[in-house]
Amino acid sequence: MSEATYEYRGLERDIAPAEGRLGVLLPGMGAVSSTLIAGVLLVNAGRSKPFGSVTQMSRIRLGKRDAPRYPLIREFVPLANLADLVFGGWDIYEDNCYQAALTSGVIPETELAAVRADLETIQPWPAVFDHAFVKKLDGPNVKKAATKMDLAEMVMRDIENFREKHGLQRLVMCWCGSTESYQEVMDHEAFQTIEGLEAALKENLSIVPPSMIYAYAAIRMGVPYANGSPNLSADIPALTELAARKNVPIAGKDFKTGQTLIKTIIAPGLKARMLGLDGWFSSNILGNRDGEVLDDPDSFRSKEVTKGSVLTSILQDDLYPDLYGDYYHKIRIEYYPPRGDAKEGWDNIDIRGWLGQPMQLKINFLCRDSILAAPVALDIVLFLDLAARAGMGGIQEWLSFYFKAPMCRPDLTPVNDLFAQDKKLRNTLRIIRGEEVIDHSGLDYYESA
Ligand SMILES: NC(=O)c1ccc[n+]([C@@H]2O[C@H](COP(=O)([O-])OP(=O)(O)OC[C@H]3O[C@@H](n4cnc5c(N)ncnc54)[C@H](O)[C@@H]3O)[C@@H](O)[C@H]2O)c1
Repeated sequence: MSEATYEYRGLERDIAPAEGRLGVLLPGMGAVSSTLIAGVLLVNAGRSKPFGSVTQMSRIRLGKRDAPRYPLIREFVPLANLADLVFGGWDIYEDNCYQAALTSGVIPETELAAVRADLETIQPWPAVFDHAFVKKLDGPNVKKAATKMDLAEMVMRDIENFREKHGLQRLVMCWCGSTESYQEVMDHEAFQTIEGLEAALKENLSIVPPSMIYAYAAIRMGVPYANGSPNLSADIPALTELAARKNVPIAGKDFKTGQTLIKTIIAPGLKARMLGLDGWFSSNILGNRDGEVLDDPDSFRSKEVTKGSVLTSILQDDLYPDLYGDYYHKIRIEYYPPRGDAKEGWDNIDIRGWLGQPMQLKINFLCRDSILAAPVALDIVLFLDLAARAGMGGIQEWLSFYFKAPMCRPDLTPVNDLFAQDKKLRNTLRIIRGEEVIDHSGLDYYESA
């Protein structure tokens, strides 16, 4: 047994069984949410397979390579069954989930027909919304109250009513709303402590965005919370501390789906081979509502920050100034309506090899934004529910795999390398089930007894 394995003994968790129904709360019922919900219903009806979902499709290796076992992850750890998921959510538009799915145009109408009746029963509750944070949108289905604290309490009542109506055992919330404007407010005193945040909610402080109100409501009710967008939301000391204190799992930020997914696959390879980088130009066109929102420079700035940070932590320019001390990283997102949800990304990567000789890599990814995001949202929901049942509260860094700007302890550098994130996720699952960590040591099988 390796030393690493020995260290992790005793960290096995008592995990409560996934009994009963799990309520999935989605602030923002647009393209990602409707594709997630319709997808789960189609899978449950036996009409499709959950491609792209690690919780549903992936196996995990256990034990040594000369006697391996490969159970499905969903059989290795007790996850909620897809048939036990009940969806609810909020939006500023009154469209039911079927109409939202048609508007977003991700799944063809002919395929949606099989689950149309179920989708039509999902009607979004009035949203907590502030036009100042999403300048490109306005809608009629919005809550009104005297203070932001009153709005938070209204969200808590929605959650309680949903729980009672459907007899739900457990709940998870995942923000799938529009990207809110970038704000340089992390250090504001209102965000440092829960007392400060609660005072700000009561005083209607303008810098508290709607996503933070939902996050506060969820965490205060003990509901695990994830943020699929780049805006701050739960990523402030006041809320990470509240989550830790109440032992509520939280994760974020910004689903890692298209171009950034590819970036965090390619960059670790270039770095491992010590190939230098002069520049990385990333350009996208997309025409869905998300693209329209990101056409506003303040919302785009939020995205630019989460997308831009990934290379620094992978390439470690401070340790490798010759290779990565002076590269140019540029990201563009252009709103182009004819493409709808079918995003096209181009990457031009200028690299350097032996003796500093220049080379280039070109990547053209014709992807489908919400087709990539829906299984990510599903996995996050199921793993956060698992974390809650395993007694794991606060920031769940082992879910970094799913995010562009992973939340982690403030004194740590986030891990962005997809393969390091994959190992972190799988080893966490092994540890909580009392299995050996797999460290891929090169001496194993040759020098150990
Ligand atoms: N699709 C992807 O691949 C992907 C990847 C990473 C992140 N994201 C993020 O996920 C989020 C959802 O993406 P989408 O493609 O579904 O966008 P979308 O525009 O189709 O849906 C977002 C929905 O949120 C609603 N909304 C906005 N503010 C709200 C509020 N305060 N309360 C309730 N509803 C609100 C909008 O009306 C809209 O219907 C976006 O922030 C996007 O940046 C998406």
